[in-house]
Amino acid sequence: MTKKIVFITGANKGIGYEVARQLAAQEFIVLLGARDPQRGTAAAQKLIALGEVHFVPIDVADEQSIAAAAEMVSKQWGKVDVLVNNAGICPELSANIRPAALELTMLKETFETNLFGAVAVIHHFLPLLKQSETAQIINVSSTLGSSASMVDPNNMYYGANLLAYNASKSALNAVSVAFAKDLASEQIRVNSITPGWVKTDLGTDAAYLTVEQGAAIIVKLATMENLPTGKFLDDNGEVPW
Ligand SMILES: NC(=O)c1ccc[n+]([C@@H]2O[C@H](COP(=O)([O-])OP(=O)(O)OC[C@H]3O[C@@H](n4cnc5c(N)ncnc54)[C@H](OP(=O)(O)O)[C@@H]3O)[C@@H](O)[C@H]2O)c1
Repeated sequence: MTKKIVFITGANKGIGYEVARQLAAQEFIVLLGARDPQRGTAAAQKLIALGEVHFVPIDVADEQSIAAAAEMVSKQWGKVDVLVNNAGICPELSANIRPAALELTMLKETFETNLFGAVAVIHHFLPLLKQSETAQIINVSSTLGSSASMVDPNNMYYGANLLAYNASKSALNAVSVAFAKDLASEQIRVNSITPGWVKTDLGTDAAYLTVEQGAAIIVKLATMENLPTGKFLDDNGEVPW
């Protein structure tokens, strides 16, 4: 059986690393994207016993770095079957900054990685996805990007009023829909997912899901036949936009 190729951004730790770990143990060649060479190499090394894992340097906030990553993947592997846009940041959470106090620099920094980075990665990796007969893009969004959740006082995330992060993930959802429509004729599936609230550096120890649980919907889509497209999904099914 030919192995599928998955490229994951921000895969040196957290949910991205867990997705890499689970897919390495299945029939996948895992291209583990990370911005820091030491962290990326160390993460790939840890997974090498499970299967085929290669570190690919990529800083999604730097378009030259994205272009170099796409070129490296093109030269060495020639295609990508599954692109997981996972890299993400939430600086306002650790700094405890309310919307009224959030400066534009932090808004722009958050969008650089969570939104513009994801779009630039799609643009640069599209030629590689077009080489696959089962291509898909998984954009790692958040329930905090769900407009329905944001305005529902009964929703458990109603109080998580993170201006930059929530707006960036809402916009990422719009990006998923736009690419799903645009790439439908080329059979490239594009979905947004939410992992739930997961214990990672970003999610903090207060979260109630393990990385295994958080990675589940991504692994499910990566290994699924008859994929949906243009959906917002968690491990239990569709999530309101
Ligand atoms: N944890 C949650 O509860 C939760 C909930 C909903 C959605 N998510 C989403 O899930 C994704 C993964 O988050 P996580 O919880 O696993 O957080 P994490 O443990 O903090 O991991 C984030 C990853 O993104 C990488 N990254 C950040 N900026 C980058 C850049 N410019 N270029 C390349 N990589 C970059 C980090 O690399 P470094 O190690 O170099 O910093 C790290 O590998 C994010 O998109 C996040 O928004 C998380």
